[in-house]
Amino acid sequence: MPAIVILGAQWGDEGKGKATDQLATTDTIDYVVRTSGGHNAGHTIVVNGEKYATHLLPSGILTPGATSVIANGVVVSPEALFRELDGLIERGVDVADLVVSANAHVIASYHSTIDKVSERFLGKNQIGTTGRGIGPAYADKVNRVGIRVADLFDEGILRQKVEAALDLRNHLLTKVYNRRAVEVEAIVAELTSYAERLRPMVADTSLLLNQALDRGETVLFEGAQATMLDVDHGTYPFVTSSNPVAGGVCVGAGVGPTRIDRVIGVIKAYTTRVGSGPFPTELFDADGEALQRIGGEIGVSTGRTRRCGWYDAVIARYSARVNGLTEFFLTKLDVLDSFERIPVCVGYEVDGQRVDEMPMTQTEFHHATPVYEYFDGWKSDISGCRSFGELPANAQTYVKALEEMSGAKFWGIGVGPGREQTIVVHG
Ligand code: IMP
Ligand code: MG
Repeated sequence: MPAIVILGAQWGDEGKGKATDQLATTDTIDYVVRTSGGHNAGHTIVVNGEKYATHLLPSGILTPGATSVIANGVVVSPEALFRELDGLIERGVDVADLVVSANAHVIASYHSTIDKVSERFLGKNQIGTTGRGIGPAYADKVNRVGIRVADLFDEGILRQKVEAALDLRNHLLTKVYNRRAVEVEAIVAELTSYAERLRPMVADTSLLLNQALDRGETVLFEGAQATMLDVDHGTYPFVTSSNPVAGGVCVGAGVGPTRIDRVIGVIKAYTTRVGSGPFPTELFDADGEALQRIGGEIGVSTGRTRRCGWYDAVIARYSARVNGLTEFFLTKLDVLDSFERIPVCVGYEVDGQRVDEMPMTQTEFHHATPVYEYFDGWKSDISGCRSFGELPANAQTYVKALEEMSGAKFWGIGVGPGREQTIVVHG
């Protein structure tokens, strides 16, 4: 299985690492690749009982023998990159095989400054960003005033590009946001200070990955953020500034769509979201609190409490469609162990009309209220189950019903945080 995409099918934090772990039990993964986003992501990985969190680095950094790649579609904060690498080196992790695309865009200090002031400026309309400069770095990329990794190695070019980037930014900062202007020379010094350490990691990652695929090696594209946070297909404007959907993988890695063999959507047995924006099945009651507490739903990157709600099959079907999912991987089923009755959103009511598909407009989606179907809970601990048949009958019914309404088969089910706490349904 040469090229596999694993991505989030909801609003992030679906436990994508679980699906990666499961793949690694049967396939040798040669490359693990990030293709979009930046250090706004948060992966929690448990290896030999030790817990690691990565934000920018692919989880492959902890897989011996796998090469980790930060591809062109990622926005890279060299400061965050080195901080993360140093944290791992301190704990004895070998990080020598990391490769960074020469074409990846760079997040400099002014990007996070702008992220924070523009959020403040939005007031009650704020997006709830991670404040890490992700949006402003992508905005610069599209505005063609971005700085790319390769620019750090040519000080003359770098200075010209920083001047171009700061020209408009400084007008905005001083005249609109009432902040001090950012000095060109300070930014040039900041960025060139990273060059020496970064240089040996830099490569043409599109060439590298295509050659690996030509040799029949296994390349895992590891999604960050998720489908509903996609700037085109998510709940715009309450989204991240990149394309976490499957199509974004091709753009973000320089690998054509015909090379992708599997697209796995990771989906929780309920739903969570951090930051602002619509969320039809969100709960504001004791059940929501219980999901939050039992599921440990606190952001890895920002420490924010995640909003929680029931499974939304409309979103699952939508994700299956826009990503062309070949399968789902269902996570955190065990979090539902103690519930008496489990509602599942099977459709919406929008302004008095029943709809089964994602509404076409933002306004309609804001008006969507869930139509629920109710399932009996199984009221027992499933964390020790290792096959579908071992699950209690009510849990089997729940999973089968979700699979039927979600638009792709369920490859596996997570029943606990440990690497072995997985049930393979369709092997
Ligand atoms: P940004 O990516 O920092 O611009 O934030 C935009 C929105 O995406 C906010 O609602 C964030 O909370 C959300 N977001 C960004 N990265 C992640 C992630 O890895 N998991 C979940 N939500 C995220
Ligand atoms: Mg996360």
